[in-house]
Amino acid sequence: MGVHNTFNTRIEKVDYRLVKNDNIKKIKKLSPVKKAAVLLNQGEIVAFPTETVYGLGANATSSEAVKKIFKAKGRPQDNPLIVHIGNQRQLKNLISGKIPPAAQKLIKAFWPGPLTLVFPKSEVISDKTTAGLDTVAVRMPSHPVARAIIELSNLTVAAPSANSSGFPSPTRAEHVYNDLNQKIPLIIDGGPCEVGVESTVVKLEGEIPVILRPGGITGDQIFRVLGQKIKRKHKVKNKETPASPGMKYRHYSPSTTLKIISGKTEKILKNEIFKKQLKIAILLTEESAEIFKNTSVGQVQAEVVIKNMGSEKNMQEIARNLFLILRELDKKGFDLILVEAVPETGLGEAIMNRLWKAAADTKI
Ligand code: TXA
Ligand code: MG
Repeated sequence: MGVHNTFNTRIEKVDYRLVKNDNIKKIKKLSPVKKAAVLLNQGEIVAFPTETVYGLGANATSSEAVKKIFKAKGRPQDNPLIVHIGNQRQLKNLISGKIPPAAQKLIKAFWPGPLTLVFPKSEVISDKTTAGLDTVAVRMPSHPVARAIIELSNLTVAAPSANSSGFPSPTRAEHVYNDLNQKIPLIIDGGPCEVGVESTVVKLEGEIPVILRPGGITGDQIFRVLGQKIKRKHKVKNKETPASPGMKYRHYSPSTTLKIISGKTEKILKNEIFKKQLKIAILLTEESAEIFKNTSVGQVQAEVVIKNMGSEKNMQEIARNLFLILRELDKKGFDLILVEAVPETGLGEAIMNRLWKAAADTKI
């Protein structure tokens, strides 16, 4: 660590797929995993892979450690962090009161995995972590490297996505490096993230499940487990106080202006935008990209580049690719990125939530 807290950021690879059956005990013995656990215990911050996106972790009980996360990301102070646990035994200590029956069902069905549950908090978690709220968001990731690091550290680990605040979440170690080089000591590289969008954040109000942020576990999946109607609080209007403080900020955005395409893809070339000399990237589903290829671009002055984001029949693929594609397009000097809307069902709900935020609610 040099002056002004600049780090020589190291990337260390963990080939966890070489370890049979995701054996966490064996993964704990790998040197990068050990280094990560030691750094966390020293009050440092470390980036590591999860099944959703890369996280930037710190000891959730230490205000000093957690402050470093906010600083490295440039994160607004009033946006609370999710506390990550390596096994279910760690939960009891973090929350006050009993685990409600509905939460127990969700835990049984979806942990470890991309579901975050909000509970009344106990005293052990730093107020910095929860941004002064009296609740704490907890998640048990399924990624074997994340779990090995958390278990080995013997800590509960506060971890937001490991990007600079406001930018697309990182789904590869190099995305973390691009955003946080020199700001953190270590990035554990576990390869690309499987899910590609963040966890679903659910709060139980009484016994009623409320989705505060759609994510890797879909509303349908939750409905199937609980068998009751689910409230959604992530579509807040500008002036309302969002239930999940993070949802009020500009989010997930590339630096290039992004807009959502509403209406028929075939008709978009008639838009005024295309009569200007602009360099435009159009992100389409595989199916629409096929149709677009055969559309006449005769009157168009703009330079149009089509990018395929995956089949509309495979939302998992689109979710997995989304942030990666946004980051790649961002480097290519486009004047505008247009993205086709996908149906807001299943994972499409999380995908469209991220896209509307990235587009700051603008469409053409
Ligand atoms: O998949 C994920 O959840 C990733 C990986 C790294 O685990 N983490 C992540 O963290 O997305 P972050 O900080 O980027 O987003 C956390 C979200 C924010 O919208 C925040 O406002 C909300 O969770 N949140 C955290 N604590 C909360 C609480 N006590 N009540 C309501 N919302 C909360
Ligand atoms: Mg984030």
